Amino acid sequence: MESLEKKINDCFERSLNGSPIDSTGREMRAMTAYMRWLAQKVPRNVKPAGSGIMQLPWLRHAADPGRGQLVYMLHCASCHGLDGRGRKAGEEYQYPPLWGRHSFNTGAGIFRISKMAGYIYNNMPWAQPGKSRGLVRTKRGT
Ligand code: HEC
Repeated sequence: MESLEKKINDCFERSLNGSPIDSTGREMRAMTAYMRWLAQKVPRNVKPAGSGIMQLPWLRHAADPGRGQLVYMLHCASCHGLDGRGRKAGEEYQYPPLWGRHSFNTGAGIFRISKMAGYIYNNMPWAQPGKSRGLVRTKRGT
């Protein structure tokens, strides 16, 4: 059994290349309070709708980097940058880097391409998920 604080710190370290924070500090208490508030009306042992990453069916053909580049340029680069390094607003990232030193690491769930695809398919482009889907369909519609 892992505590919520440990799990949050795991995300900082394993996924985000960061350092753990004080598990009794103000920031940690704020995050756990927020999560407990969110969970108030969720029955025990029920997975809330919209949580997790959807598993997409496997493709029956190889990924096509050329089409991927086209989708990225048209639907992703405006926020994540032509170089994929994200965009900062002051010291903080407004849009996260997708690769490079400040992006997620190999311990992150979305490092696996199957998870990444499920995440992008349902959440990106930000505020308009699904906008880029037409471009990734093949002639067979898969
Ligand atoms: C309008 C701005 C915008 C566009 C366009 C956009 N994104 Fe994002 N993207 C975001 C924001 C904001 C986040 C952070 C979301 C969060 O943390 O909940 C994000 C997060 C991500 C992440 C997760 C990164 C991480 O470290 O957790 C990936 C992967 C991603 N976007 C890929 C894409 C791809 C691929 C496209 C194009 C199909 C795209 N995005 C288009 C704004 C955008």
